Amino acid sequence: MSLNVVILAAGQGKRMYSKLPKVLQPLGGKPLLAHVLDTARQLQPATLVVVYGHGGEAVRQTIGSDSVCWALQTPQLGTGHALAQALPHLDASLPTLVLYGDVPLVQAATLQHLVHQAGDGLGLLTVHLAQPQGYGRIVRSAMGSVCGIVEEKDATPAERAIQEVNTGIMVLPSSRLPGWLKALSNANAQGEYYLTDVVAMAVAAGVPVRTAHPEGAWEVQGVNDKLQLAELERIYQRRQAEALLRQGVRLADPARLDIRGTLACGRDVSIDVGCVFAGTVELAEAVEIGPYCVLQNVRVGAGSRIAAFSHIDGAEIGPDAVIGPYARLRPGSVLASGAHVGNFVEIKNSRIGQDSKANHLAYVGDADIGARVNIGAGTITCNYDGANKHRTVIEDDVFIGSDTQLVAPVRVGRGATLGAGTTLTKDAPAEALTVSRARQTSVPGWKRPARKKI
Ligand code: UD1
Ligand code: CA
Repeated sequence: MSLNVVILAAGQGKRMYSKLPKVLQPLGGKPLLAHVLDTARQLQPATLVVVYGHGGEAVRQTIGSDSVCWALQTPQLGTGHALAQALPHLDASLPTLVLYGDVPLVQAATLQHLVHQAGDGLGLLTVHLAQPQGYGRIVRSAMGSVCGIVEEKDATPAERAIQEVNTGIMVLPSSRLPGWLKALSNANAQGEYYLTDVVAMAVAAGVPVRTAHPEGAWEVQGVNDKLQLAELERIYQRRQAEALLRQGVRLADPARLDIRGTLACGRDVSIDVGCVFAGTVELAEAVEIGPYCVLQNVRVGAGSRIAAFSHIDGAEIGPDAVIGPYARLRPGSVLASGAHVGNFVEIKNSRIGQDSKANHLAYVGDADIGARVNIGAGTITCNYDGANKHRTVIEDDVFIGSDTQLVAPVRVGRGATLGAGTTLTKDAPAEALTVSRARQTSVPGWKRPARKKI
């Protein structure tokens, strides 16, 4: 769209009681301001300006600067003063859309509709609220046309009874802005330069003022404290869950799912309660995720099953794998098809070949494991010597007995068997049994020491 977008994001957010600036507080794992920026970018604006101030550098650094103009507002003297800081960046021939950094869920379609309605005039996005407290009220004439906006703190009791409120989101004819913003006064209850005062100026100048409304009030809900943040988080998560359901994903309970990033699902995926998906997660066809699993930056192949309480981060799981319950896959874990990783098994930076199994209580770190390998309970790779990490290589068809330690760097040849309890410090040859433990002896008639009498 041919327009300027300005996001006002300089406010402090005192009521968050946080050292993180308000617009960087996360919603669905992403800063509030990043939500607004993503929506703004969908409109393909000619210029995109963020007015920042509070937490300045942190805001710029977190968001990054590609395709954003930054306008510093210091001190923060109100929304009209904030917009004035963006003026040098604006193309005066295009309308300017004003968004708020703390109103994260507004939809691109709503904004397009608003811009369309506004035409060459001034457009206001308004909603009717049963409880309008805290918002600026839209004052209309007897004929129903907009006369202006009055802030709650400046409103008369009659004006406070108005239920149509200013969402703050508006479109303005840019060529008028320098004059209007210059004419703003701060002689009001808050001693601020209110952007909302330009509406009466537009009316006086004969500029048409038109209104548009969002699909739902949730779209324009702002975040001022952690209560409102938590409320919006639930709305956001609910909408993501509904989108998955519509697409055919089976969710045991759409209210008990959290996606903090993106989750792509194939056909017939099913997800049990209490799961958290972060970063980029892809679940191929017929993947089943059991209850209370956490998956972050993971790809799971078709038909794999992940049982309850598994924690999987930075892993790639092939098709038909069986994981958990209580499995932990750390970054760099790559599992081939049909791999089994059972309870209390931790895997890090390792490849597990096709149909290989580590079903109970094991640590596999910095290892390359071939196909059809069986790793017994209690097996650990000793990959760290206190200074450096070393690799363990286990070739195809190896059988590793329980409670084995593989002191890396070490290699186990194809088809080898390691006896239970082995501490492997040298390579084990292929097709042979290697065992390192004291031979079992028995002492007949052994008497246990008796307790001394005092
Ligand atoms: C504003 C509107 C009010 C509307 C409400 C909707 C004005 C005067 N009032 O009130 O009509 O109903 O939003 O939520 O505009 N900001 C700056 N610099 C400043 C002040 C604010 O960048 O100097 C930014 C804030 O970061 C925030 C937005 O502007 O993103 C709104 O500021 P806020 O102080 O929350 O305005 P309200 O008093 O809620
Ligand atoms: Ca506000």
